[in-house]
Amino acid sequence: MNPFNPETTADRVLVFLRKKIGQPVEPKRLVKELKCSPENVVEAIGELRSWGYTIKADRNGRYTLTGIPDSYLSAEIAYHLGTKMIGRKIYAYQTVQSTNTIAAQLAAMKAPEGTLVIAEHQTRGRGRLGREWHSPEKVGLYCSLILYPKIHPTQAPGISLMTAVALAETINSYDEIDVKIKWPNDVLISGMKAAGILTELSAELDRVEYVIVGVGVNLNQKRSDFPSELRETATSVRIGTKEKVNRRQFLQRFLRNFEKEYFVFSKSGLKEARKNLLKYSALLNQEIKLKMGRKTIIGTVIDIDALGRLVLDTREGIIPFNAGEVSTH
Ligand code: BTN
Repeated sequence: MNPFNPETTADRVLVFLRKKIGQPVEPKRLVKELKCSPENVVEAIGELRSWGYTIKADRNGRYTLTGIPDSYLSAEIAYHLGTKMIGRKIYAYQTVQSTNTIAAQLAAMKAPEGTLVIAEHQTRGRGRLGREWHSPEKVGLYCSLILYPKIHPTQAPGISLMTAVALAETINSYDEIDVKIKWPNDVLISGMKAAGILTELSAELDRVEYVIVGVGVNLNQKRSDFPSELRETATSVRIGTKEKVNRRQFLQRFLRNFEKEYFVFSKSGLKEARKNLLKYSALLNQEIKLKMGRKTIIGTVIDIDALGRLVLDTREGIIPFNAGEVSTH
């Protein structure tokens, strides 16, 4: 794990070098500014290099930061993030079974709201309906956020929907990309799945104790990186934009969008997000099949209402649905 800890010399050296990126810095200056020993500086530089930072030392012993690693280091995520609550505490791991599981453990121990749990790689990434979420190293985003919303448990699906809006807005900030939300919690690029949301909650009858919002995004996969069973249905942001994505920048944009959506949701529910849910909807005006357990309903999608329900025009009339698995063929 790599928690950003501004108390450690390595993170303080990093913050300093980050401000002077590309410029040589005298070790004497670091010793003076950070009030530490020359040995501490040497040790910190070694540690930063072991995390993947490129720090050149010249003949005069000056250090120049020239390269930032393409990984989810907590110091990098926190750098210029600018959110008030989301990501104020970050747990960044190399490998975990599932970030949702760790986030739930932290929430049970009352971790602060907005805590982010993120991993480079998941060995048991979980998807909806007991499916697996393919989580290979270096190409994706796998993270979970801890929330304590003051809502009734029946409003919890709204959190998945507002998360889908935050994801769609983030993906839409890249050029030339056709992003859609497939209710309730898939995000599509050019009709193929690029991201999924797994919201898990602990609740009493009338009160939510905590919500874990798990987000998986395919970012830098090429088509050949997907296992054969996913190749026809999955895509990535890179495939959509035809350019490699800076994963940390994507995450920061997502966290900012998420915070914006969450603050609005906390005040007024889905009223605001609904406009974007409709704007990005992959299903509006389409005839679909909605599978709920053994039952399948056929109808045309005419709305997503303020409670986040999918409203279908069916043979039995106009009916709003809370949940289900949608197919369009
Ligand atoms: C789905 O579309 O089925 C939801 C996929 C959610 C995957 C994410 S990856 C981070 C978090 N940890 C998990 O184990 N699952 C979610």
